[in-house]
Order: sequence, then structure tokens, then C-alpha cells
Amino acid sequence: MSTLGISGATVQLTEAELKLLQALIYQECGMHFDDRRTHFLQDRLQRRLKECQLDSFYSYYRLLISHEGKQELARLLENLTVNETSFFRNKAQLELFHKYILDHLLRRKQERRDYSVRIWSAGCSTGQEPYTIAMLVVDALSYHYLRNSFPVDMPLPKPLVPSPWKVEILASDISYSVLRAAQEGAYNETQMSAVDYSYRLRYFDKVGERYVVKKALKELVHFDFHNLKTEYLPQRNDIIFCRNVMMYFDEAEQKRLIEKFGRCLNPEGHLFVGHAESLLGLTDQFTMVHRNSGTAYQRVEVTL
Ligand SMILES: C[S@@+](CC[C@H](N)C(=O)[O-])C[C@H]1O[C@@H](n2cnc3c(N)ncnc32)[C@H](O)[C@@H]1O
Repeated sequence: MSTLGISGATVQLTEAELKLLQALIYQECGMHFDDRRTHFLQDRLQRRLKECQLDSFYSYYRLLISHEGKQELARLLENLTVNETSFFRNKAQLELFHKYILDHLLRRKQERRDYSVRIWSAGCSTGQEPYTIAMLVVDALSYHYLRNSFPVDMPLPKPLVPSPWKVEILASDISYSVLRAAQEGAYNETQMSAVDYSYRLRYFDKVGERYVVKKALKELVHFDFHNLKTEYLPQRNDIIFCRNVMMYFDEAEQKRLIEKFGRCLNPEGHLFVGHAESLLGLTDQFTMVHRNSGTAYQRVEVTL
């Protein structure tokens, strides 16, 4: 029997009730709460019960599974997500992305006269990951532009994305509150610690104590709600970043997600996962790319 305290009162949560709640969360968003995370789950449940002024698990569970309870279910899920993130997280991996994979992608695309680049940050939290990607893509494109001649002259002032290129960075999450913060794109000094001064000068405005992402960079990123548990996920991506998300899913859900990512990628597309995550033993649809301590996975193309 587990114990929940609500407004001073105590609600007893049986093992069966706990399992019921775990199953509902798993079914809704794929997050798996094993014994090590039960305490966290109970703590967050307690907060929601207090907020809803309910004093029994039964009435709360009934609310969650009702049509009117959809909003509360979304709020509970938001309370259960871990949103830790930072700019330029996992530098070795970003170097592999920037210097090798992006460079190769731009050259391949240019040969085919396909000037669109589409990257998806799945589980983007408060936006540091997609904005980091945007800064690196802009840099890679400027460098690519320098080395190649294009049919169109560069207008002045220079746009972040030189014509004829088109860059789309989709950033999605299951939590509306992190999506709102990401869209605002305002960060304090601590959050900016990994952003060096040349990036701050080019891509941020200092407003009071905070650094706000410049409009031109923001325009490259499109934020949207997507639950990775669902089947309908954004298609035709050249690269997907899904870092530090899968670690909260169990193996079966990880396998399902990797298969879906395979379908969401363009041929030869790449997938980046967190440094504590791996595709090894979960799929034969991807092959590992490893360079200077950075790891990514490339979709394997089947030739008939
Ligand atoms: C730890 S953060 C990782 C942020 C960023 N990718 C990084 O590595 O810095 C995990 C994010 O995944 C989101 N998330 C968890 N389950 C999800 C799901 N089923 N669908 C979409 N996003 C989910 C959480 O809301 C959270 O913002």
C-alpha cells in the first residue's frame, strides 16, 4: 500500500491503483514508471490531487479517463515530464552533426538541386536544442555558400539563410508549458552559460537580465505539439534529434518509436539520440555513425 497526503489528509494508494495509473500514463505518452520512479509519480499525483481538490484516487482516476478530464490528463503528463536541457548539449555529437553530417547533406542536396533542409527536434523542451540546431545550420550554410557559387546574388543585408536554400526546423513536445517558454525564447545568464559571445552577439538581444533569441533565428524554428506515442508524426525529415526522451520509455516503446522515426526520415536520413541512449539491439533499420566521440544513426536503405 502506498500513501498519499492531500491537504493534510492521507489517501491510501493500493498497488493495484498505482499499476492502473502507470498503465494509463504508458498508454497515453509511452513514459514508463518502474519501481525506481514510483516515488516521483506519487509526489506529482499528490500535487495534482491537491490542485483539483480531490481526496481520493478513485475520483481523480475517473476524471482522468473522462472526456472532461482531457485537460487534467495533459496537465498530469506535463507534471511528469523531465524537462532538463541546455544549449550546445553534447558538444561531440553536435560537432559530428555540424562538421560532417550537415556538410555532407548540403553537398548532396546541392548536387540534386534540392535546396530544402528539414530537421526535427522531437522532445525539444524549452527550446535550447532547436535554437542550437538553428545556429549551427546557419553557420554551416554560410560556410557552404562561401565554398560554392550559386546562381543568385546574395542580397544585402545578408539573410540568415541564403537563397535558394530553405530551412525548416520543427520543434515539438508533449508539454504546452515548455513549448510556450521555447516560443518566447528568453534565457537567463545561467541558461546561457554554454553559449559563447560570438553566438550571443549574432543571435540574441539582451533585454534586461535575459537574452532573447533574435526574430530572424526564431523564424527558422516552428514549434508544435506532438505526442511521440501517436502514429502520426512529422514526415520527410533529413535529420531527427530525439535526445534524452527515449530513456523514459520501456524497450517495447523505444522499438516502436525508432521504427516510426525510420518512416519519418528521408532516405539516408540521420537520427540523434541522447548520450545515455542507444539503438543497439533495438533495430536493424539504422547503422551507427561514430566520429571523435560523437554518435548518430543513419537510416539503412534497402536495395531491391
Ligand atoms: C529531458 S527533456 C530533453 C530535451 C532536449 N531534447 C535535450 O536533450 O536537451 C525531455 C523532453 O521530452 C518530452 N517528452 C516526454 N515524453 C514525450 C512524448 N511522449 N512526446 C513528446 N515529447 C515528450 C518532455 O516533455 C521533455 O520536454
